[in-house]
Amino acid sequence: MSKKIIVTGGAGYIGSHTVVELMLAGFEPVIIDDFRNSKPWIIDRIAELAGRYPLGHAIDCTNELEVLSVFRNYPDIFGVIHFAAYKAVGESVQKPTMYYQNNVGSMCAVLNAMKECGIENLVFSSSCTVYGEPETAEVTEATPVQKATSPYGDTKITCEKIIQFVKDSGQPLKATLLRYFNPIGAHPSARLGELPSGIPNNLVPYITQTAAGIRSQLTVYGNDYNTPDGTNVRDYIHVVDLAKAHVKATEWLLQQQGSVCEAFNLGTGKGSSVLEIIHNFEKVNGLKLNYAIGPRRAGDVEQIYAKPAKAEKMLNWKCEYTVAEALKHAWNWEKTL
Ligand code: UD1
Repeated sequence: MSKKIIVTGGAGYIGSHTVVELMLAGFEPVIIDDFRNSKPWIIDRIAELAGRYPLGHAIDCTNELEVLSVFRNYPDIFGVIHFAAYKAVGESVQKPTMYYQNNVGSMCAVLNAMKECGIENLVFSSSCTVYGEPETAEVTEATPVQKATSPYGDTKITCEKIIQFVKDSGQPLKATLLRYFNPIGAHPSARLGELPSGIPNNLVPYITQTAAGIRSQLTVYGNDYNTPDGTNVRDYIHVVDLAKAHVKATEWLLQQQGSVCEAFNLGTGKGSSVLEIIHNFEKVNGLKLNYAIGPRRAGDVEQIYAKPAKAEKMLNWKCEYTVAEALKHAWNWEKTL
């Protein structure tokens, strides 16, 4: 059987780590990425870590005709991992149409090309944001999906719905909806990691840039939450563990008979507060971070972490790295930039 799989957004943060793990597992990824949120040299780094270059096409994933032409170029493709999307919550509030056009537009282009070419397997990059502010901090896949609080969150809910509707329409489709918690860290080799454009929105890149002197101070967004130390609790997962879950999800799809659409929580099962992350970062890397407590950030969920039992059981996957290792790897990567 062919091992070729399309990976949209394959030069991005999670995408690039996943491409490496796919190649190490014997798959042949075909990247679709126009580098709007990455750099072409990331492909060289992938090649360095995987021992060979992946196939790739620098096209806009919302361009239906170009996406279709890539799919047609490889008649032996068996599936798609769809990462390509914007992911900044605040920006999505400012530019909602840009988010729907890109995130939902690329999803439709991919599903249409899959139909046209008779490709059934899809791994979709979703988010725990679909759970909104949950009633209990620990969420399972059965926890209700709630009304989104940002256009970004709504694009993830919408894409999940589109996939389900396409399956229900009778188009042969085997899909996994991978709901990521908070991906952090970098490849242990420090050759691959996150490349935030501009001021980082996410906690860990902001921490590493502050430690590197690029930012003067980290602001902790509120310490008056109803949590043990008053700061938000999240489930921080090492990006390589997350990447490996995509390989497992792909292998799982290949074993399924008939159409299926299954959601999986990808997290460690353990929550960490913002202050715990800061102190863990300081300890593991032997440095002091300049931070101050500031006001809450609008739209932040108080606390959320995964119950990853379903993914562990059905995908035969488990996180291997600790948060401390992820914070060490994040800093090692930052030092190379
Ligand atoms: C959110 C979504 C996640 C989505 C991601 C995309 C939830 C629960 N999570 O992650 O699904 O994929 O956005 O970007 O909706 N913080 C600070 N100071 C900073 C930056 C962050 O204190 O400078 C705090 C935040 O208040 C939050 C935590 O750090 O408590 C993590 O923030 P961030 O890395 O932005 O991720 P989420 O908002 O959890």
